[in-house]
Amino acid sequence: MKYLAIVALLSVATVLSADNTNNGVNGISFNDRILQGVYDGSHQHQGRHNEPHFPRPPFNQTMSNRTVHTRSLLPDPLHFADGIVQKALGVASHAAHAGLDIAGKAVDAKTGLAGGIAHTVLGGADNLLHHNMPHIPHIPHVPHTGPSQSTDPTDAQYYGVRNSRDFTGKVVLVTVTNSGLAEGTIKLFSILGANLVITGTNGTYINQLAQSVQNYSPENLKALPVVADLTKTADIQNLFTQTVQTFGKLDVLVNFANSYALLNITDPNLMASWDQTFQNDLRSTAELIQQAVPLLEKTNGSITNVATIAGVAPVAVELAYSTAKAGTEQLVRILALELGSKQIRVNTVNVGAITPDGQPDGNPILALMQSKAPLARLGVPLDVAKGVVFLSSSDADYITGVNLVVDGGIIYNYPPYFN
Ligand SMILES: *[C@@H]1O[C@H](CO)[C@@H](O)[C@H](O)[C@H]1NC(C)=O
Ligand SMILES: *[C@@H]1O[C@H](CO)[C@@H](O)[C@H](O)[C@H]1NC(C)=O
Ligand SMILES: *[C@@H]1O[C@H](CO)[C@@H](O)[C@H](O)[C@H]1NC(C)=O
Ligand SMILES: *[C@@H]1O[C@H](CO)[C@@H](O)[C@H](O)[C@H]1NC(C)=O
Ligand SMILES: *[C@@H]1O[C@H](CO)[C@@H](O)[C@H](O)[C@H]1NC(C)=O
Repeated sequence: MKYLAIVALLSVATVLSADNTNNGVNGISFNDRILQGVYDGSHQHQGRHNEPHFPRPPFNQTMSNRTVHTRSLLPDPLHFADGIVQKALGVASHAAHAGLDIAGKAVDAKTGLAGGIAHTVLGGADNLLHHNMPHIPHIPHVPHTGPSQSTDPTDAQYYGVRNSRDFTGKVVLVTVTNSGLAEGTIKLFSILGANLVITGTNGTYINQLAQSVQNYSPENLKALPVVADLTKTADIQNLFTQTVQTFGKLDVLVNFANSYALLNITDPNLMASWDQTFQNDLRSTAELIQQAVPLLEKTNGSITNVATIAGVAPVAVELAYSTAKAGTEQLVRILALELGSKQIRVNTVNVGAITPDGQPDGNPILALMQSKAPLARLGVPLDVAKGVVFLSSSDADYITGVNLVVDGGIIYNYPPYFN
């Protein structure tokens, strides 16, 4: 059984390098063995700083009485809450609350960014802040009557959560890698009733995948396999043309496609390899999304880009790969800003060490990762699938621009491999 994920270490670099020949987007033989970053003390703050795992103040129960306590609601990944955000909120009262609700819906005529008025309120503060601007929720009144007696229309939304993972009638496009990481996600979407478009460079592989997942579909839906090299504009165009011809629309785009090269700054081949990695990982992602947007706009669709904790935690031999992945993560945050007004959500799932069975399978590096993982195991494709499906579901209706880390907590206990 091949590994879905491998930890990049200097000690294994030579082994992996021998494999590093095919550079098609989906074609690299170890392309999505998920790589782990160095996470020693000196990087700890940096690593955490980029992560969404900031403790938030507890929800204040008075909220149920519509008393808004601004501070308790502010996500604070940039540590701005007490200063700039507070200032933006002005008197931090219901008046500010109302003002920001209006501002959040406005589009700046100059920049095209949603939240233009809020931007003005902030006096030119960085756009990133928009992303973290609070959209203070109106907590609906919870009726005291039992559910069967309630006539409150919001109740339908609450009860709807019981069916939120039903993807019947939805069209889900997944770009795959050849190593198998995407398989669990494709399988789960099929089980949940989705129409699937599966795309990659290896026709044999994606045809096999399309056939095998049909068995899981409750309505025996046939998946559409489309061979595409995502570094080619024409291939991407053909991908979406076929998607629309077959299914008429696109609701969900999930991007696993990936390539990887071991590389450091002394490598004589640096720039050639750099360009190739950036083309495969970052440029192709941007173009895929660029061409998907007109379709996703019609469906209020979502985009989930699968990246790696190596995009957050630096790994010495992954100079180009980690940097490109960090780029895709920032791409996601910027697109969340830009596409929010079109009701398109854009998120990242950031994976750690994933193997087919969650076991190190005799690999000492993976065994070490397992021992360091707070949850004491490696990940399996279903772990990734559940994260992707959640972000693609209506349960994540109000979630955009996040980096959902699916790594069993390894990133917080990273072995200092590269000391
Ligand atoms: C909730 O907010 C009220 C009003 O500001 C405050 O009196 C109370 O202590 C808060 N409760 C918690 C748990 O923070
Ligand atoms: C809820 O709001 C009502 C009306 O404003 C007020 O009378 C009541 O004291 C509030 N209850 C709490 C728990 O804050
Ligand atoms: C394509 O996929 C098939 C089936 O998984 C596999 O046997 C073959 O080695 C793959 N070809 C390449 C070039 O990766
Ligand atoms: C950089 O890569 C070369 C091979 O391209 C390798 O010999 C060397 O040890 C690496 N240096 C570091 C610091 O990783
Ligand atoms: C998309 O969202 C908007 C705003 O919430 C809504 O008016 C519209 O009906 C939605 N369109 C679809 C296709 O769900």
